[in-house]
Amino acid sequence: MLVVITGVSGTGKTTLGMGLSAGLGLPFLDADQFHSPANIAKMSRGEPLSDEDRIPWLQSLADALLEYQKSGGAVLACSALKNAYRQRLQVHTDQHWIHLQGDRDLLWERMLARKGHYMKASMLDSQLAIWEKPSFGLLLNITGTPEQVLQVSLHYLTSQGMKMKIGVIGMGVMGKSLALNLAENGVSVSLYNRFVAGKEEGVAQAIRDAHPEIPHLLAFEDLKKFVESLEQPRKILMMIPAGAAIDAQLDALLPLLEKDDLVIDGGNSFYLDSDRRVNRLKEMGMHFLPMGVSGGEEGARKGPSIMPGGNAEGYAMVADFLGRISAKDKEGKPCVTYVGPGGSGHFIKMVHNSMEYGEMQVLAELVHLLRFGFGCSAAQISAIFSDWAKGELKSFLLEITADLLLFKEGGELLLDKILDQAGQKGTGAWSLTTALEYGIPYSPLAEAVNARGVSGEKAMRVAFSKSFHHEFQKVEGTLETWLPKIKEAYALARIINHEVGFRLMKTVSDTKGWGLNFNEIARIWTNGCIIRSGLMERISANYADQIAFFETPGVKEQVNSGRMALAEVVGLGLTHGFAMPVMSAGINYLLGRITAESSASVIQAQRDYFGAHTYQRKDDPSGKFYHTEWTKS
Ligand code: 6PG
Repeated sequence: MLVVITGVSGTGKTTLGMGLSAGLGLPFLDADQFHSPANIAKMSRGEPLSDEDRIPWLQSLADALLEYQKSGGAVLACSALKNAYRQRLQVHTDQHWIHLQGDRDLLWERMLARKGHYMKASMLDSQLAIWEKPSFGLLLNITGTPEQVLQVSLHYLTSQGMKMKIGVIGMGVMGKSLALNLAENGVSVSLYNRFVAGKEEGVAQAIRDAHPEIPHLLAFEDLKKFVESLEQPRKILMMIPAGAAIDAQLDALLPLLEKDDLVIDGGNSFYLDSDRRVNRLKEMGMHFLPMGVSGGEEGARKGPSIMPGGNAEGYAMVADFLGRISAKDKEGKPCVTYVGPGGSGHFIKMVHNSMEYGEMQVLAELVHLLRFGFGCSAAQISAIFSDWAKGELKSFLLEITADLLLFKEGGELLLDKILDQAGQKGTGAWSLTTALEYGIPYSPLAEAVNARGVSGEKAMRVAFSKSFHHEFQKVEGTLETWLPKIKEAYALARIINHEVGFRLMKTVSDTKGWGLNFNEIARIWTNGCIIRSGLMERISANYADQIAFFETPGVKEQVNSGRMALAEVVGLGLTHGFAMPVMSAGINYLLGRITAESSASVIQAQRDYFGAHTYQRKDDPSGKFYHTEWTKS
């Protein structure tokens, strides 16, 4: 596509041209740069150019336009004051014209304000004198702001067949933030939000209007028009709630799409649903990208961690866009990678969330113990967490917890006013059921899900706390003695949470033949996502796809040195009335996994005793199964 912007000096051709160039992803050409030295000298003397002066200049511009059209097009800003000049520049059928026109006083003011430009303000009148009303293209008065001029131009070009690079469906918090992030990074975006009378009306347009500073956005409420506004093959990102809504949206969308189009699901969908949808679109010759996105609203707007899986060809279509909008790791590489086939992108996001649940719960357990066991104020706990966050324990969740402990509303701690019932949308529970399905021990992270469930039973908890006279007990020892142990316990509980999550991912990847790259997964989780941390940076450097995560460098030492501290802190909490579900499941899980002689001999004996289920013997390495008549001895 070629776009030519015309107008006398001071109409804002360069500003509009550069805006359009960024939005359309086309090079910007400034006609002034094509003048011969003789022409420049003449203009600098304040002498108007003659037609003879202009002809070779116009010819060089026409040649350049034809050349640029071969590689996709360009945006040219050129005075082209007469229709004859414009005709000389009309070189292609896919060429569009925007003629800027302004009031002489406004132009005069702008010209006088210019510095370092060879055009003299006195030349304005000579330009206006020869300016001819255009016989084709859009004649646009420049009374609005530069953003408004750009918007009107974009709408005009769309009406002329110009297409937007990507479409985003769903203008909730995440959809809106990702769309704005894309547009700010030079990707033109069509926004779509459904119309629901009285509830969702003009949602996309309101977002468009609220961001005049961000060009390259068009708003739609009509799905067909939205689809028609997109460049082919189309790229559409759905940011709508997981579950039935995704299938319903696909049912409405797919009949409007064609072979080779790409649909991305950027929500928290269940990975088996995503597997199914990848196949559904594949059968139609389309691409489907189930894509985890982490980082919440702030991340989506400024740089999330992005986990696309599914159709690799589809990923290649948007790899550049995703790289532009994602967070960057320490080396400056984008926190996005093609995860693997099927629903693997959503699968790792699900496990990410499960670790997120575990990390959040450990912090919640420590806040309670420090506050009501040791009598620390919220500000003191915040200071402790902030101090930890300066070292190798640094993590986003630790930092935000330190922060929220200081937040006051009406002079009082907001935290104390928040109802103690934790919400959940499903990813934690799905991880747990997946772990059970694959026979992977998951107790520490499972306890984070269970703890949210128990928290939901508020009325029962209140009633039981009375009937069982439950109260937190004050710890007698000093905080100074306990704090180093608490810190070690916290560090180890986090290592355990990560080991549990990575082990599930490794097992499922191996079983499904996904071949996931865990160093790379940890790398894209070092920034942008909710579980970014110093520990994740260590994992990204050391994990090397191994199942023996506890033995990786740096981790092994902490498993050895921290396990007594974790046991003691959990013991302290339990004996003083504090439920510590994730930390205590963590130490149980760890001890269970490093115990050579487990108590399972008793289980096997019991099974054989009551049900003749048989058992194997330590003194028979052949693995033969034995049964004993237990009651006959
Ligand atoms: C993220 C978050 C995000 C969301 C969770 C919340 O990585 O950005 O995980 O996806 O906050 O889905 O889940 P719950 O509502 O289940 O806590």
